[in-house]
Amino acid sequence: MGKNIFRRSFIKKAIIAIVSLEAAYLIFDVFKNKSKDKLGSEMFIAGNSARFEKNKMYPFNSGKFYLSVFEDGGMLAISIKCTHLGCIVQPNNDGFLCPCHASAFDKHGEVLSPPATRALDIFPISIEKGEVLVDTSNPIKRKGFRKSQLTYV
Ligand code: FES
Repeated sequence: MGKNIFRRSFIKKAIIAIVSLEAAYLIFDVFKNKSKDKLGSEMFIAGNSARFEKNKMYPFNSGKFYLSVFEDGGMLAISIKCTHLGCIVQPNNDGFLCPCHASAFDKHGEVLSPPATRALDIFPISIEKGEVLVDTSNPIKRKGFRKSQLTYV
């Protein structure tokens, strides 16, 4: 009986310790990539530009964007928030799909099928000393995709 209580108490403490560590890690993960610039914009440090390959999409859930790198090397930081009612869109083969009401978006974030009527927002990207920085405090609303929205290293 005494052993069982000791074992249950130990397991409970171990679970609390593991959950606490996980929570601390998640909080650290969110803040380690963020820094504020002189103007107070929240810059998310995505990483060195050399690590991003063409024709690939990199999810940054803690930054709330997908970094898409296209065939010509142009990059877009596409918001994960659906422009219909704000659910989190998921990447698929054609681009992105919203699990809530099935809006679909192409790889540039343009609407393929409603109910969403507006392209996914994008965030400004800048390159500093080879690092890709994404200004997650300034989402840009847009009607559609234009080549001028792409950022190049
Ligand atoms: S919130 Fe995405 S389709 Fe409704």
